[in-house]
Amino acid sequence: MSAPLARVWALLAACSLLGATASCGDDGDGTTGAQTPEPELVEAFDDEALASGNKAFACDAFAVEAQVDETLAMMSLEQKVAEMHGLQLAPVDDLYYAGGDEALGVPPLKMVDGPRGVRAGNATAFPVAMARGATWDPALEKRVGAAMGLETLAKGGNVLLAPCMNVLRHPGWGRAQETYSEDPFHMGALALGFIHGAQQHVIASAKHFAANSIEDTRFDVNVTIDARTLHEVYLPHFRRAVREGGVGSVMSAYNQVNGAYCDENAPLLTEILKGDWGFRGFVESDWVLGTHSTVDSARAGLDIEMPQGLYFDDDLVGAVVDGDVDEEVIDAAVRRILRTKLCFGLDAPVDPGPAVVESAEHRALAREVAEKSIVLLKNDGEALPLDADALGSVAIVGGLAAIANLGDEGSSAVTPTTAASPIDGLRAALTGAAVELRELPRDQLDAPDLAAIAGADAAIVVVGLTHEDEGENLPQNDLGGDRDSLRLRPEHEQLILAVAAQNPRTIVVVEAGASVVVRPWADEVAAILMAWYPGMEGGHALAGVLLGAVNPSGKLPVSVPRDEGHLPSFDHVGLEVAYGRFHGYTHLDRDGVEPEFAFGHGLSYTTFAYSALDVTPATLEPSGELVVELTIENTGARAGAEIVQLYLRAPDGAVEQPVRALSGFGRVELEPGARARLRMRVPASQLAHYDASGAGAWTPTVGVYGVDVGASSRDLRLAGEFELIDGG
Ligand code: BGC
Repeated sequence: MSAPLARVWALLAACSLLGATASCGDDGDGTTGAQTPEPELVEAFDDEALASGNKAFACDAFAVEAQVDETLAMMSLEQKVAEMHGLQLAPVDDLYYAGGDEALGVPPLKMVDGPRGVRAGNATAFPVAMARGATWDPALEKRVGAAMGLETLAKGGNVLLAPCMNVLRHPGWGRAQETYSEDPFHMGALALGFIHGAQQHVIASAKHFAANSIEDTRFDVNVTIDARTLHEVYLPHFRRAVREGGVGSVMSAYNQVNGAYCDENAPLLTEILKGDWGFRGFVESDWVLGTHSTVDSARAGLDIEMPQGLYFDDDLVGAVVDGDVDEEVIDAAVRRILRTKLCFGLDAPVDPGPAVVESAEHRALAREVAEKSIVLLKNDGEALPLDADALGSVAIVGGLAAIANLGDEGSSAVTPTTAASPIDGLRAALTGAAVELRELPRDQLDAPDLAAIAGADAAIVVVGLTHEDEGENLPQNDLGGDRDSLRLRPEHEQLILAVAAQNPRTIVVVEAGASVVVRPWADEVAAILMAWYPGMEGGHALAGVLLGAVNPSGKLPVSVPRDEGHLPSFDHVGLEVAYGRFHGYTHLDRDGVEPEFAFGHGLSYTTFAYSALDVTPATLEPSGELVVELTIENTGARAGAEIVQLYLRAPDGAVEQPVRALSGFGRVELEPGARARLRMRVPASQLAHYDASGAGAWTPTVGVYGVDVGASSRDLRLAGEFELIDGG
C-alpha cells in the first residue's frame, strides 16, 4: 500500500530544510568591532519560510488515502478511465477540464496556463519567467506564484500549468522566455519559489518533462542524452520540484528522449519520477500531440491525456478488458489523481472573488518584479541614471517604445486590461518635470528626427524581439518558433547605429526572452539595459530605472555570447539532436571563451565590495553541510541590492565537470556604506555525480573543491577551498 501522502511529502520537505547552524564568527576583514558595527547576518535562503503554506505539505495523508480507497472501490472501470483524460479540445470558459464525477463526489480538474499570468480573460501580466529569473529571488517568485494561484482560483481553475522549467540549452529556443535559466541550480531555486506560492491555492504543474528546449521540432525531435547529463543537467531542478516543492502535477513533454516520446517514456515517468524521486501527484500529457498511444503511454506512467481522450478513452477500457493493460495501472493512476484532488481541497473550492484579479496589489507586484528584473548590462561614463532635473530634453526612439511588449502569444499569452509602454512610463514619471520628452516611436528615422536626437541631452532606443520573432510555434500564422539568429532584426541594429551616430549618450533598451548578440553595435552606445518582456507595469519599471528612482539589481540568468558560434549548435530543423553536458556558461568556460556579458552579470548605480570569506568546515563529509560566509559592503552613494553568487570548482578526477558550477546565491539590500554578512549553505549531498556505470546511484565527488564568490560567473572576487572526504 502507498505510504501516507502527508508523511512522505512532509518528510521530503524536511530533507530539504537545512537544520544545522554555523556561528557567524567575526568579520575578519581587519576592522575592529569598536569602530565598525557588526554587519547584519543575512541567510541566503529561508527554506522553511519558502515552503510555508504549500498545500502539499498540509495534507492529512491517512484521511486522504482512506477516502481514495473508498472512492476507488465504488468506481467502475469506465468511471476510472474517465478520470484519465480531458473533456474536449477547446477550453470551456478558458479552462481545460479533466475527469470529475458528480455522482461520486469527485471534482474535475480545471487547468489553465501559464507561466506569466493566468490565461483567462483579463489577468495580471507579470514579467516573463526569464525576467523573473533575472531577479534571482525565490521569495519574490513565491509571491508571484501565489498571486497567479489566487487569480487561477478566481477564474474557477484549480491547476496552473506552470512553472515551465526546461533548462535553456540555447537562447534561440523560441520559448526561452517561459523558463527561468540556463542553469539547473538557479532554475530549481526559482521554480521552487513559484511552486510553493502557487500551491498555497492550486495545483502547480512542472513542465515540460523532460529535455524540451527546441520549439520548431517539438512534436517529433528525439533528444539523445547520456544518463549522467540527464540527471545532472536536465533533471535536478525537476527533482527538487518533486521532493522539496511537493509539486502536484508534472506535464510530460512532446519530444522524445532517448528514443521514446515522453508520454511513453517509462524510464522518465515510472523509474525516475515516480520511482526514484517518489512523486505522488499525477502526470498529464502536453496538449493535442503529446499522447502517442493507449497501451504504451498508460504502461509507461502517463496518468492523464490532455486535452481530450483520444487514446485514454474507450480504447483504454478495451485495453484493460483485453489484458493489454493491467487494471492495477489504472488504479494507480486514478489513485494519484484522486489523492491530489483531495490534498489540494478541490472538493471544497474557495472563491476569492474577481477583485483579486489585476488587483492593485498584484499590479504593484508585477511592477516590483519588473524593477528587480531589469539588467544594466553596460553603463559607460555613468550614462545612467538620467537626472530629470539636470536634463533639458530626452529623445525616446523606436517602434517598440510605444508598445507594451508582453511577449509570446502562444499558450503563455496573458491579456491585462491595461499595460504601460516605455513611453507611457516615461511620460508618467516625468509629469511635472521640466525635461522635454521627444517621442520618436518609429524604426525609420527622417532628417528632422535625426536633428531632434542630435539636439537631445540623451537618446533612449527601444529595440528587441516580439511574439513574431520568438515564442510558441504557431504554424497557423507562421509566428513565433525558434530564432534563426541571436542578433536583432537588421532594422533595429541600423536604428541603434543611426541614433548613436547622432547622440553620444545613447541608451539601448533591449526587450527579448533571452540573450541578444550586441557586438555589432555595443561599442557605439553608452548604456544597455536588458528589459526582457517586462509585463503590464514594465513601462513604469523601466522609467524608474532610467531616471534613477530604481537602482537596477537584476543579473543575467543566461550567458550573452560575443558570437553565436561560441555556444553549442542549435539545430531546430533536424529530428535527431544530441545534448551534451555543457552549454551556456559551462560551455564558454570549458572553451575558455570570453562572453560579451557573463552568466550572472548585472551592474548597479552603486558599487559593492566583497571581503572576509569564511568556508567551513575545511573538511566535509557527504552527510554534512558547507557554510560559506562573506561580508558585502555598499561602497557607493546609493542604496542598492547585490546578488552574490557562489560557484564551486569540483576536484579534478575521474568524471568530467564544469570549470565551475553555480551552487548558491543570495540577494542583499544595502544602504550606502552599510555592510552585511551573507551566509550561504550547500548540503554536501549536492556534491555528487550520477554514476551511470553502476546501478545509477549518486556518488559523492570527493576531493578538494575550489570556492569562488563573486558578482557574476566571470567577476569572481573571493576564493577559498574545502575538501569533501569519503564518509565511509
Ligand atoms: C504547451 C503547454 C501548454 C499547453 C496548454 C501546449 O501546446 O506546450 O506549455 O500548457 O499547450 O495550453
